[in-house]
Amino acid sequence: MKILILGSGGREHALAWAVKRSQRVSEVVCAPGNGGIAEIARCLPVDLKDVAAMVRLVEAEQPALTIVGPEVPLSLGIVDALQERGLRVFGPTRAAAMLESSKGFAKRFLQRHNIPTANYAVCATAAEIERDIDFFYPPIVVKADGLHAGKGVIICESRHAAIETAEELLSGRLLGAKESHVIFEEFLEGDEISFLCLSDGKHVAPLVPAQDHKRIGEGDTGPNTGGMGVYSTDAMLEPAMTEWILRHIAEPTVRGMAEEGTPFIGVLYCGLMMTARGPEVLEFNARFGDPETQAILLRLESDLVDALEACIDGRLAETELRWSPGASACVVASSSGYPGSYQNGFPITGLAAAARVPGVQVFHAGSSRSANGQILTAGGRVLGVTAAAPTLEEALARAYEAMELIHFEGIYYRHDIGHRALKKRP
Ligand code: AMP
Ligand code: GLY
Repeated sequence: MKILILGSGGREHALAWAVKRSQRVSEVVCAPGNGGIAEIARCLPVDLKDVAAMVRLVEAEQPALTIVGPEVPLSLGIVDALQERGLRVFGPTRAAAMLESSKGFAKRFLQRHNIPTANYAVCATAAEIERDIDFFYPPIVVKADGLHAGKGVIICESRHAAIETAEELLSGRLLGAKESHVIFEEFLEGDEISFLCLSDGKHVAPLVPAQDHKRIGEGDTGPNTGGMGVYSTDAMLEPAMTEWILRHIAEPTVRGMAEEGTPFIGVLYCGLMMTARGPEVLEFNARFGDPETQAILLRLESDLVDALEACIDGRLAETELRWSPGASACVVASSSGYPGSYQNGFPITGLAAAARVPGVQVFHAGSSRSANGQILTAGGRVLGVTAAAPTLEEALARAYEAMELIHFEGIYYRHDIGHRALKKRP
């Protein structure tokens, strides 16, 4: 089989690595890919915002299966466009991807189906903002309706700040583009868990859970990022809690989408807050998480391509996912200045030595390859140094051992990935 992956980040590097391990896969093509992906797949340029260009590429390549990594092409309807032409693709349709691309849609959907989530209001005008703000006590969570790569959520410490933020989202002053709707939300407290499932439109199969570290600074301080590291262990969720989340969140979501005529086929990523009154949905993503996927796929023992095909063909109930017991961790190396502005083009050294540390895979998030084969930095998040081991302590030790061998100008990474799990141990 020839597989084509759309995307260019660490998630897509991990997907390319995982599908390459399948006995059934003879070739992997990635568009546009990055410097690390180019070592295991043929990379072709494409604009992930241009549906017609992506369709032309897939038609020219004729892969047996296309896998869509990021949210933007999903929200633009790449899956619908490929399906209309009879091309086999893994991912949700545009209508199903609205669980991620419109937070207002997701909140109303959750309420319609009695799925636990924070109380909220959706506002389209200044008058609605004035009317609804008094239902909330600070801190008040203010969210843009649309996709903003993690920058569309602002936590406000006062009523006044929340009104101002909401109005700036509507006017376009805050994020550049005007938002049609803003959402106020009750502030939830607890541990966050990334609970990802495969869905074939009827059934769900959970992947191993993961915990992301969104803040740039150690001790979870500073601004939010796309994710600075993640870990996954079996101990993160008791089996009874996994069952509860499946019964009350993941299954009702997939059932509700099917009932509404927009079945969800793909990866349903439930961003959960484990609150005092139980797990509640913070957000949905309609795709694999980044960097969750890097840590999760390192633990997958069964064939990823079989599992994705089972989703497309409605056979997920008969498919078994097998996982290595123990733990994995991914530590992200970022460019100095990220999540603000940063410089690209610095040579990265030590990659080969890092890859020789047992249990380690170095996934590239933002890298490029120069004409003479040198790997250069080309993004805010540059690498995800990922390791699996029988325990979380060992997985982290391996990831950090490998990280210390890697260098580029301005390299930054958090030294405390997994600290929350380790602290809880008696
Ligand atoms: P989202 O893009 O909706 O996942 O939000 C990004 C981050 O904002 C989440 O991972 C949480 O850390 C935080 N967040 C979102 N909604 C809430 C909420 N209702 N209460 C507390 N924190 C939240
Ligand atoms: N790690 C969060 C995300 O993929 O959106």
